[in-house]
Amino acid sequence: MSDTSISLYVHWPFCLSKCPYCDFNSHLADQIEIADWQQAMLSELSHMARFYSEKSGLAPADISLDTIFFGGGTPSLMPAELVEAIIDKAIGLFSATPHIEITAEANPTSVETAKIADFAAAGVNRLSVGVQSLDKAGLSFLGREHSPDDALYALDIAQSHLRRVSCDMIYGLPDQTEAQWQSQLEQLLARQLSHVSAYQLTIEAGTVFHSRTRKGEVLVADDDHVASLYHLTEQICAEAGLSAYEISNYAADGAASRHNLCYWRSGNWLAVGPGGHGQFWAQDGRYHLVNRRSPSGWLSDSLSQSHGCEQISVLTAREIFDNYWMMGLRMTEPRPLSHQHVSSKFRLDEVWLDNFCEAGWLVKETDTLATTLEGRMRLDYMLGKLLG
Ligand SMILES: C[S@@+](CC[C@H](N)C(=O)[O-])C[C@H]1O[C@@H](n2cnc3c(N)ncnc32)[C@H](O)[C@@H]1O
Ligand code: SF4
Repeated sequence: MSDTSISLYVHWPFCLSKCPYCDFNSHLADQIEIADWQQAMLSELSHMARFYSEKSGLAPADISLDTIFFGGGTPSLMPAELVEAIIDKAIGLFSATPHIEITAEANPTSVETAKIADFAAAGVNRLSVGVQSLDKAGLSFLGREHSPDDALYALDIAQSHLRRVSCDMIYGLPDQTEAQWQSQLEQLLARQLSHVSAYQLTIEAGTVFHSRTRKGEVLVADDDHVASLYHLTEQICAEAGLSAYEISNYAADGAASRHNLCYWRSGNWLAVGPGGHGQFWAQDGRYHLVNRRSPSGWLSDSLSQSHGCEQISVLTAREIFDNYWMMGLRMTEPRPLSHQHVSSKFRLDEVWLDNFCEAGWLVKETDTLATTLEGRMRLDYMLGKLLG
């Protein structure tokens, strides 16, 4: 990744049903006018490319497109033709890197699994399958539309079409034992996956789980148990050759998601679709763009004015500093203590920095700072102290 490379996020906001834990910008829809969505997405993409080229001072041919990520919602519900049209347009607008990474999130229902071959033919070369659990009771608790067998079948099909397959898992369900979690991870890793994302179940405001929690139900495992599941995840993944490279992400050598690394390394990315956020370095600072969240509002803006972006700001030096550390310390790779775009007038709190290094939560070298396993488990607490 360099200052002349860019990533593209494409948000598809529709799902077959709303999961009770999910606060992503995802909606149910009776009818979707695909031709309108295609026109809106392609015109917003052209708009974003023009805007970036103008602000960065780079000619489109000098901007290399490194990754595209179709996220959601459920992008595996998109017609493959639409995915292909977006990929072709994006590659035509910039100069694509020779090994461009193109990821789509996919849910493992039978309808979506049947489309994996078409997605691969459309240009997708990495699939992130939303397995979440391989346990019948776990899937039912999470309100998922698929069974454990559906998930394993989706992984088989994905691996038969694509070299790079990842899966998303959620742990820390109430009553989930270490043995249950270990058996799920081992089943997955026996399939030679090169990437796993394992997220701790979080109760997000505005979700069904949030209302149930407010009424007194306990829907997550307690903190100590979650900590032991986290240790176990790291150990089992490491035994299978997947090392932790971010709080929730494990990959074999060379298999880390370049798209997500772009966010955590404060790179350049554009976003297309409702609720998408883009950020990039430009001649006059770091831009942050926010698209309208409502699918119908975004669609109508994008059709009438060629984009659905409702907010453009240039980040302050303090915001850049905070983001650099909030994102950077999520990763295991050591972060440079100074960066050309990050103002040296701000400093991490020296006293807390020493305390955390002494506790073994951070490792400070002459020019870099890195988070350890123990530190990643306490990142929110540490950031609160380090950033003041
Ligand atoms: C955009 S979401 C979903 C992608 C896809 N629609 C699916 O459901 O598989 C990306 C991932 O975030 C994780 N996730 C979403 N909400 C979560 C929550 N409240 N707690 C933990 N993980 C969550 C899930 O693992 C999910 O696969
Ligand atoms: S978890 Fe995935 S399928 Fe469920 S509502 Fe969220 S985005 Fe949709």
